[in-house]
Amino acid sequence: MSTLDVERIRSHFDFPATGRVVTNNAASTQPPRELIELLGRLAPWYENVHRGQSAASRRTTALFESAYDTIASWLNAPSRRCIATYRNTTEAINAVMYSLLTSFRDGDNVVTTMMEHNSNYVPWHALCREILPRFGRRVECRIARFRADGSLDLDHLASLIDQRTKLVCCTGASNFFGAKPDLAVVRRLADAGGYPQPTGEHRALLLVDGAQLVPTTAVDVQALDVDYLAFSFHKMLAPFGVGVLYAKEHLLDHDLPFLYGGDMIAEGRVTPTSVAWNDLPWKHAAGTPNILGVIVSAQALRLLVDLVLPTAFFSSWGPLPRVAIEETMTRVARHTAALTAHCMAGLREINGLRPYGPEQRTPLVAFTIAGVSPFAVAQALDRQGVESRAGCHCATLAHHALGLDPPASCRLSFALYNTFDDVDRAVAALRTIQPAATDALPTGRSTPAVR
Ligand SMILES: Cc1ncc(COP(=O)(O)O)c(C=O)c1O
Repeated sequence: MSTLDVERIRSHFDFPATGRVVTNNAASTQPPRELIELLGRLAPWYENVHRGQSAASRRTTALFESAYDTIASWLNAPSRRCIATYRNTTEAINAVMYSLLTSFRDGDNVVTTMMEHNSNYVPWHALCREILPRFGRRVECRIARFRADGSLDLDHLASLIDQRTKLVCCTGASNFFGAKPDLAVVRRLADAGGYPQPTGEHRALLLVDGAQLVPTTAVDVQALDVDYLAFSFHKMLAPFGVGVLYAKEHLLDHDLPFLYGGDMIAEGRVTPTSVAWNDLPWKHAAGTPNILGVIVSAQALRLLVDLVLPTAFFSSWGPLPRVAIEETMTRVARHTAALTAHCMAGLREINGLRPYGPEQRTPLVAFTIAGVSPFAVAQALDRQGVESRAGCHCATLAHHALGLDPPASCRLSFALYNTFDDVDRAVAALRTIQPAATDALPTGRSTPAVR
């Protein structure tokens, strides 16, 4: 029994008319029609924000600022002062890296994990191996292992964190395994290190990559006590080029900005010898932002609630109650968990197929088929109208750690608008792929036999 009226939800999207089986949602989700129409409705009154006295500029500024309030309520952040917007998760994580860059001391370390998307590994690798060495500072990047089932090895993580660990960077949900590390435990471990931060706290900062977490779970940044959390709207119905960084207010207040320029400075307070920053959150909004993208993305959150519950939050800017957000995400998670369980059951019947990740997972499953290139699997699925993704999904470290050659798997991932029929079509398409008569891991050199 589905917890969602999926047919009603699908009627808000254009893709079902094409017959596509959209099962690559961990990469990007589909836009509901209302969001595209909203862009059009905003156009006649478009003006820059914080840069004009016209009614149009005041109106657009009010909508833009309200968008920050919606995003803050979605995460249960104390206020818009804790929100910065960027292009995507990657840019938001880089913003943290550049903001903290100068505060690393010689001998510090950063701890991340083998499960990370490259967005939450490569910036830390670059910081430690490329950037800080040029300033003569040695900072180590330590990498925690995952267990055989793809869950984070918390004992190993604990062994890597010490009193010189300034920052722990951890995924909220792996885009390869679907595993969700226990962030309460990760927080405790980060605290135990006791690193003396310039803000006066004695604990490692915790950055969570929420790119797969925020679209699949109700996230409460205060309950999780994370210092930074990043996510991308293109994975939650709004492909308009907006990513979010949540950060605790005292950190945004204290941290250096990632970008410098217009609007991030206090009005009139630039002289040849001094510059004063604007109030939060605009200190972290240099240059003209993605104005319409931010407005429409925040409306995507309100529309998501309306698609799931009988509410009318879309196109308005009133408060978004916590209970509605939590109920929405609980129902979405229940529906997509049922789809994922159905998919896993189907995959278990397929000869030579090896799924990765633990039983408890976000709505995705990555797998290989013995002796068949994951790219050939994805092409075979595509020929039957089923969309998937083959490759390392930017979880390159984990693919190498598993010894996959090529470092690749094929992934199916589900969203609120997927049906059990979508899953059945994907599984039926996979059944037509003949595994090689060996248990060997995929080599990438073989081609699939398609019945
Ligand atoms: C876990 C995870 N982190 C980070 C990213 C990067 O997101 P973006 O490409 O929007 O920066 C992704 C995207 O697939 C992801 O799945």
